[in-house]
Amino acid sequence: MTAAVAESQALLKSAIDEIGADIDRLFDQLLAVPQDQRARLYEAMRYAAIGGGKRMRPLLVVAASNLFGIDRARALRVGLAVECIHVYSLIHDDLPCMDDDDLRRGKPTTHKAFDECTAVLAGDCLHDLAFQVLADPRISDDHAVRVELVAELARASGPAGMAGGQMMDLMAAQEQMDLAAVTRLQQLKTGALIGFCLEAAAIMARIPTEGRTSLRGYARDLGLAFQIADDLLDVEGDEAVTGKKVGKDAAAGKETFVSLLGVERARQQAHMLVDQAIDHLKDFGAEADLLRAIARFVIERDH
Ligand code: IPE
Ligand code: IPE
Ligand code: MG
Ligand code: MG
Ligand code: MG
Repeated sequence: MTAAVAESQALLKSAIDEIGADIDRLFDQLLAVPQDQRARLYEAMRYAAIGGGKRMRPLLVVAASNLFGIDRARALRVGLAVECIHVYSLIHDDLPCMDDDDLRRGKPTTHKAFDECTAVLAGDCLHDLAFQVLADPRISDDHAVRVELVAELARASGPAGMAGGQMMDLMAAQEQMDLAAVTRLQQLKTGALIGFCLEAAAIMARIPTEGRTSLRGYARDLGLAFQIADDLLDVEGDEAVTGKKVGKDAAAGKETFVSLLGVERARQQAHMLVDQAIDHLKDFGAEADLLRAIARFVIERDH
């Protein structure tokens, strides 16, 4: 390992540890359990949200915010909002009516640990919490910034984003899909929320749309590489390390980059996308090193 690679890995490891602790602390504050019948709902939200996951999306928001000198506490709250949407999407993705999974982040899925009704509500409420957090003035004193963040996260989560991709993913079990269709599916299912993370930093920094091209290019390539890595882990990963069941895509008859390209070409494609993602950052200096390290991690990860 070269000194530069070791340095980049150390930078990433400390950033991941720090963000994990920060996000857990914020969730803990926001989800204090009331002493009434709603306690079970709060417990389920805490169960799904606290103490697990790579926290890639909050990390991306903070890393992109570094480019523009945005206050870390504000960036962290935006990261928390997108993590709320992500965790909600995972709770619902695991339900019997969707992927029917019983393992997530190394423990039983929320509907297994609680029950389906509670899991649906916990997902709904995490979705709501995301927008409550974004509307809070602690994100920004500027109303226009908060409105743009809310509108952008709504777009990235809904039918033109993650939920639309989930619909296409469900159809993928019944339909024959080619590479273009799978790419579109993944851009919505995974790419839209990742895109929001980068866009959010530009919104907070009030960067005009024409100044966002390189960040959007990075997000697009990173999002696809991230999903190819997820598909590869489903084929080659180890359940004890990924913390979720493997072999699910093939069992459901879903076309993925891996089923269409094969393992080797899918891996090559992911590497090419990561190189491209890093190339989009060429006009930035050391302040973009964390974004570069995240891009490398996305394909080297084993979980
Ligand atoms: C898994 O996302 C689901 C996808 C969108 C591919 P992550 O791999 O980020 O899951 P966690 O947050 O680390 O559990
Ligand atoms: C789910 O994709 C993506 C979401 C929007 C939740 P997958 O179904 O591939 O995610 P895993 O593999 O269960 O984490
Ligand atoms: Mg799924
Ligand atoms: Mg799934
Ligand atoms: Mg998957």
